[in-house]
Amino acid sequence: MPLNGTKVRLREVRESDLPLLLALRNDLDTQGWSQTLPTDYTIVTYKKQYEDDTFSTKRTRARFVIETLDTNEVVGNISYYSLEPRFEVTIGIAIAKNFWSAGLAFDAQETLLHFLFEELGLRVVRLWTTGSNVQAIRLGERSGFRVAARMREAIIRRGKLADNVIMDLLREEYYALHPELEDHLPALEVK
Ligand SMILES: CC(C)(COP(=O)(O)OP(=O)(O)OC[C@H]1O[C@@H](n2cnc3c(N)ncnc32)[C@H](O)[C@@H]1OP(=O)(O)O)[C@@H](O)C(=O)NCCC(=O)NCCS
Repeated sequence: MPLNGTKVRLREVRESDLPLLLALRNDLDTQGWSQTLPTDYTIVTYKKQYEDDTFSTKRTRARFVIETLDTNEVVGNISYYSLEPRFEVTIGIAIAKNFWSAGLAFDAQETLLHFLFEELGLRVVRLWTTGSNVQAIRLGERSGFRVAARMREAIIRRGKLADNVIMDLLREEYYALHPELEDHLPALEVK
């Protein structure tokens, strides 16, 4: 069952999506994460990763294709990983350049956050990005993320040093930004 937002749906990855996902991974503008260099992934390695994904009822990660609701176009992907049940998770997103600045990333991110807080009951969602990636930082901030840690000059991007930035969004912050939702889980004491 897809997760529906107002502009996009998040659905399972299909084999036919792999060429686009590979192209996003092999483009320096869209991979967004320096640990995926060099940009020489092949359809064979990508397909193998897809086929090796075995069924499990204990999921600590998931990847969704982002598809527009009105035209059914695949525009990117969004994922979560390193999930600690009921506690934390990290998310990542990439949108194809011809669809940037149309609000699709924000809608996809909000749709995933709704699932992570409402259905998985997580307490904190994190993301990693680069200090020079203004779109990614703005996208995070728009959903309520704040910069939680900054590793200075930890990344080289296009020949320049950049900070590695961790942003996070706490459960109570998410619900404060969404008065239409009620948090039915007990608040934890912060020491
Ligand atoms: C980061 C990314 C997903 C944003 O996608 P997008 O389609 O531009 O995002 P949206 O249209 O939903 O816009 C989200 C916010 O970013 C802002 N934004 C978009 N492009 C921007 C730019 N070039 N400069 C500054 N802000 C920008 C938007 O204005 C919006 O904020 P606002 O509503 O306050 O104005 C996209 O640029 C991308 O795929 N980048 C490569 C991968 C990546 O960096 N992923 C994130 C790190 S893991």
